[in-house]
Amino acid sequence: MIVTGGSSGIGQATAQYLAQRGGYVLITGRHLEGLKAAAQHEHIAWMVADSAQEEAASAVVGRALHLWGRIDIIVNNAALAPLTPLENVTSELMYAVFQTNVFGPTWLSRASLPALTESRGSIVNVSSISGQLAVVPETYYAASKAALEHLTRCWAVELAPRGIRVNAIAPGPTATPGLAAFIRSVAQEDYTAVSLDKQGTPEEVARWIATVADPSVRWVTGQVITVDGGVKLGATL
Ligand SMILES: NC(=O)c1ccc[n+]([C@@H]2O[C@H](COP(=O)([O-])OP(=O)(O)OC[C@H]3O[C@@H](n4cnc5c(N)ncnc54)[C@H](OP(=O)(O)O)[C@@H]3O)[C@@H](O)[C@H]2O)c1
Repeated sequence: MIVTGGSSGIGQATAQYLAQRGGYVLITGRHLEGLKAAAQHEHIAWMVADSAQEEAASAVVGRALHLWGRIDIIVNNAALAPLTPLENVTSELMYAVFQTNVFGPTWLSRASLPALTESRGSIVNVSSISGQLAVVPETYYAASKAALEHLTRCWAVELAPRGIRVNAIAPGPTATPGLAAFIRSVAQEDYTAVSLDKQGTPEEVARWIATVADPSVRWVTGQVITVDGGVKLGATL
């Protein structure tokens, strides 16, 4: 199993959840210290790898195969979420967001295809309710998640003949270091579409990622499952 961005938040919780249930998980991230600190289970290995770099994908897959000889699940979780109004957007920012949030999942999924075909495995893309709402000024992050959700549907159709399922989990606000940094970075009045007062836990999101990825599930593919306590609908659980 591979979880990108496994040194923090939802990725870390997912790796823990899978490892506690017997899985062997390779977590990735750009910083060594975070990975070492997060690998708190004997079934969790780590590798410094930047999801935005195309060549990193085959190295990550090669490492997982070297360690365990098979890959059943990949979780495309690593993401960048900068805040930028249109008048300030740059090509550097757009490339960085799409390289991490859209190209990265594409390279890792492509590199994993032979192994996932052999295992009849599954891909889980971590999206966001921002991919379905006009959350300003998260505009380019939100657009990247919308793209990831449509890749999920297209890959599900394309890979079904290989027995590979592809789904996405779209969390709402979830209490992670990433969300805490996001909240610190803008004034409250910039949030136009999503209330951040209520937050889910990374452990609950991890349970849904693991559930949809489970090899015993054979009849769910191409779906985007929202895990947000009803936030997108305006509910207040
Ligand atoms: N938290 C929320 O409220 C929320 C809501 C909706 C969706 N999501 C989605 O959930 C996922 C995880 O979010 P989170 O809040 O758990 O984030 P987080 O706490 O900020 O953790 C992000 C993780 O991704 C890694 N990462 C970032 N860029 C990377 C790259 N280019 N290559 C490899 N690893 C990279 C980080 O490690 P390094 O810095 O060491 O690379 C870290 O391990 C993201 O896809 C996010 O869009 C989160």
